Amino acid sequence: MARHNFIGFQMVRILVTGGASYVGSHACKALAAAGYEPVVFDNLCAGHDWAVKWGPFEKGDLLDRDRIDGVVQKYRPAGVIHFASFAYVGESVTDPAEYWRNNVVGAINLCDALAAADASAMVFSSSCTVYGLTTAEFISEAEPVPAIDDARRAGDPARLVADIAHARKNLAWQPVHSSLDNIVSTAWNWHRSSVSADRA
Ligand SMILES: NC(=O)c1ccc[n+]([C@@H]2O[C@H](COP(=O)([O-])OP(=O)(O)OC[C@H]3O[C@@H](n4cnc5c(N)ncnc54)[C@H](O)[C@@H]3O)[C@@H](O)[C@H]2O)c1
Repeated sequence: MARHNFIGFQMVRILVTGGASYVGSHACKALAAAGYEPVVFDNLCAGHDWAVKWGPFEKGDLLDRDRIDGVVQKYRPAGVIHFASFAYVGESVTDPAEYWRNNVVGAINLCDALAAADASAMVFSSSCTVYGLTTAEFISEAEPVPAIDDARRAGDPARLVADIAHARKNLAWQPVHSSLDNIVSTAWNWHRSSVSADRA
């Protein structure tokens, strides 16, 4: 059943794929604080069910087209924020097919499910690690993605900082944590607490 806010309006639903993850669960928290109802879709391969606190949880895999179709039809979200993927550079080099299947086929299944439901608003949580080593201080979407005609790098380069100008302009996004030290320590603490919560 649709949720209503404290003055009786039906809350706008946003589907959050990968919403049980570190980044996804914080996006859900921010969505709920802004008055939206986040619906989490996650297969828990790297996420945690305890991190889903702000709306319904639908356990499912984006590789299962019928499952994501069913969830989109059930909730009819106004938009999607897509975080569900494999996200480790080292593994993507040692097992590219697995990454390709999960991230590319999963994203195509999601787009097809949205198209079938006439829903199109999607924010894709990409990664600046698709870019090669660059001299730019901040990497914008205009930076070229290098063609792979050479051996791929084996891991993250020492420094890659995404340019947030596009998100600021088009989504009115403002960073809450803008120091790298703070970002890394909050992420580290979240992952440590998730290990203790899963063991409990
Ligand atoms: N962590 C960061 O600092 C950062 C920065 C920029 C962008 N990103 C991007 O944001 C996304 C999430 O990053 P994260 O660090 O939270 O990663 P994560 O591995 O913690 O989260 C990925 C989530 O997606 C789920 N998932 C994976 N494949 C799925 C599938 N086929 N079906 C359903 N659920 C699936 C996992 O269970 C997990 O909850 C990634 O695309 C990553 O590239 C992360």
